[in-house]
Parts: sequence; structure tokens; C-alpha cells
Amino acid sequence: MILEYYLWPMNILLLGSGGRESAFAWKLTQSPKCQQLFIAPGNAGTSQYGKNVDIKATDFESIGRFTLENAIDMVLVGPEEPLVKGIHDFFLADEQLKNIPVIGPQREGAQLEGSKDFSKEFMFRNNIPTAASKTFTRETLQNGLEYLATQGLPIVLKADGLAAGKGVLICTSLAEAEQELKEMLTEAKFGEASSKVVIEQFLQGIELSVFVLSDGTNYKILPEAKDYKRIGEGDTGLNTGGMGSVSPVPFAGAAFMQKVTDRVIIPTVEGLKKENIPYKGFIFIGLMNCDGEPYVIEYNCRMGDPETESVMPRIESDFVDLLLGVAEGNLNEKELVISAKTAATVVCVAGGYPGEYLKNRVITGTENVRDSHVFHAGTSMQGDDMITTGGRVLAITSLQDNMFDALQQATADASRIYYDGMYFRKDIGFDLL
Ligand code: AMP
Ligand code: GLY
Repeated sequence: MILEYYLWPMNILLLGSGGRESAFAWKLTQSPKCQQLFIAPGNAGTSQYGKNVDIKATDFESIGRFTLENAIDMVLVGPEEPLVKGIHDFFLADEQLKNIPVIGPQREGAQLEGSKDFSKEFMFRNNIPTAASKTFTRETLQNGLEYLATQGLPIVLKADGLAAGKGVLICTSLAEAEQELKEMLTEAKFGEASSKVVIEQFLQGIELSVFVLSDGTNYKILPEAKDYKRIGEGDTGLNTGGMGSVSPVPFAGAAFMQKVTDRVIIPTVEGLKKENIPYKGFIFIGLMNCDGEPYVIEYNCRMGDPETESVMPRIESDFVDLLLGVAEGNLNEKELVISAKTAATVVCVAGGYPGEYLKNRVITGTENVRDSHVFHAGTSMQGDDMITTGGRVLAITSLQDNMFDALQQATADASRIYYDGMYFRKDIGFDLL
């Protein structure tokens, strides 16, 4: 019955408004199985592929109503916030919505990202390699301070909850760590998110992002990627939402990825199943490669941004069909073909970002881009003008036969675009060559 229904092209609702969602929209609409794509709320770029709908990704009531009124057949959730807040549970609890598949885990599975303490406990229970850690609350602050004194330096403090990417502190002195721990626990430095703090051993190594798509039983390993978080060239300066990415990652060869599969991916998928935590969606595993051994730094319950912009162009298979496999629980029957080419993404940001940044600047020159995708993040249309509205403005992705060409093309194409205050890193990926 369900199969017959899906012989017809589908109406898909994509939630989110960043570069990740632009890359999803581009990929989804290449599928003959996608009839109509709606993006809520989307940006100037997503409107090239579908219809933007003025609904926030966390406004569940409006999303539910829109889904029914527009005969939506599947909902793909881009960002973590709606998942952690339970959008999937909201659909399942509604008589009319419960049979419409949502791609993204329910609230409990989303805790892998929503609570660092939950994710650490999950890893410890399932023998998944990760840094040693202990969790403390305001009531156990004193124990936390004593624990700190027994640990080496640097030491990592993590707010338990979602803190918009800001809740992780790497402290290089004991005095600093003690001060930060107090502020997090007793002065709510990161609000409710730091009512619990994970104190974690510092891992020395090189980071990468591994992405898994799971239907709760079966899984597919999507292309891995490396992202560049610092604002400045040579990985200097403040942390950002991400300044660029590349896929594949040269230091994640077959032997390393086999370890990741055996020690991390399989125990994660099996652990979720064993613990009766339903999980239909993406598992983003932030990994440290420490001398060839993988350690999990964090889980996210969604795809990465700007990694998605490099991952989607390398997926040659029908992406909607893969998502259908997630929805129907037969992902094992689906084909995932990955391009051997390299994708490089350069993110163009607003002047001043990640601090206070310029807005409403007119963007020109995107038509001069020669051999890259222009994925939009913080853009919108103002009359006929495309203007900047966010810190991360555009993600320029080039797919080429080798890494050098991909990096060079993406960088050259980024420089063909102009807006007042535009900045991008010209060194993305060059450390990997
Ligand atoms: P997270 O929010 O958990 O991704 O942490 C943000 C960043 O902090 C990571 O991407 C790492 O660069 C760094 N980080 C987190 N945990 C550790 C750790 N245990 N050792 C070293 N660096 C870490
Ligand atoms: N690129 C890291 C993230 O999406 O969290």
C-alpha cells in the first residue's frame, strides 16, 4: 500500500534556511521522485529550487497545518533545534500527521546532540571510543572543582545543552577552568544549557565529520568531510559557524574508515536499537583522528553546515530514494553511489562576522561564477536585488577531479562575487594537499 503510494512523485517540505538547506534543495529537486519542494523558511537561494514558505522551522502547529493543506508526503528537517524540541514526536502524536514521514530523529534520539551528558553516557554504555569525562551540576560544583585539580591541561568544559555552537571551552590553566566552571554552573553563563557541565579530557589530533544516514536498523555512510571553523587563514581567530569544507578527507583512508565503522558507526546504530531509541535520520559524528585512532568528540542529529554543501555534490544516487529508504525502513535495499571527485566549499561571510556584522548589502556577480554551485545561506530578495541578511552569506562549492582543482576553482569563483564587506578564506583545504 505504502509502496504503491510512493510510485507517485512526492511533495517534500524541507525545514531550515541555511547553506545546508540550499544544498539539500538542489539535490532533492534533481530526483524524478520529487514533484514539488517547499522550504520553510528558506532563503533567496532555495527559492531557485522550490517555493519558500514563511514559517519558522520551530513553529510546529503551522508546519503541521501546511503539511496537510499542501499534501506533503515527506518532511526533511535541516537544523537541530526542531528535532531537539520534538518535531518528529509532534507529527507522530497527531492522527492526521502520523503517517507522514519525518526525516530526523525523535526527541529522545536528538538528545545525542541536545545533551552532551546523554551522548557521553551513551558512548560509555556502548564502548564507543571517546575522551574520558564526568558531568557536574550546581549541586556538585565542589566535586567538579576537585575533579579539575586531578586532570591534566588543557581541559575541556562543555555546556550540556544546545548553546549555538558556543558552549565548549578549552581551558589552558587550572585557574581559568575553575573560574569558567563556576560561571557556567552558578551564573548560567550559557543559560539553561550550562546547568550541567561535562568536563572532558583534551584530545590531540585532527578533526573530521562523518555522516551516517539510518533508518533505525540499516545505515549508509555518506561522504565524510572536513570543515574549517576559524575565521582567519591558517585556522586562526574566532570560531564561526564554518568557513569552508572539503570532501573526501585525505587522512580518512580505508583503514581509518574501517575502524570508524567497526568501533563507532556499528556500535552507535546498534546501541540506539538496543536501547529502543528510534532513529530515522542523519547521525553526524564529529571525530578526532588521534594518530590513526578515531575518538568521538560529539554527535549531532542532523547534517553539518558547511559540510553538506561538499557532501551533496558527491552523492550520485537519487537522494529522495535514499530518504524513502529511511522512511520505509529498507535503506539496505537502496543504492548509494559516491563520486570519486573532490568537492570544496568556500563560505563567503559578511564584514565583521563572527562579531557584529554588516547587513542588507547588495550581492552582485553570482552570474560570473564559472564552475561552482552557489549555495545561499544568509540572503534574501529585496525587490530585484539579492541582499545579505546573515553572517554566513554564500557557500561556493566546486566539484573537480582532484582536490587542488576543486579548491582553486571554488576560491576563484568566490572572488567573482561582490558585496560590501565580503570576506572569505583563501586557504580552505590547502593544508590537506
Ligand atoms: P563541540 O561543540 O563538541 O563540537 O566542540 C566544539 C569544538 O571544540 C570541536 O569541534 C573541537 O574542535 C573542540 N573540542 C571539543 N571537545 C574536544 C576535546 N575533548 N578535545 C579537543 N578538542 C575538543
Ligand atoms: N559544521 C559543523 C556543524 O554543522 O555543526
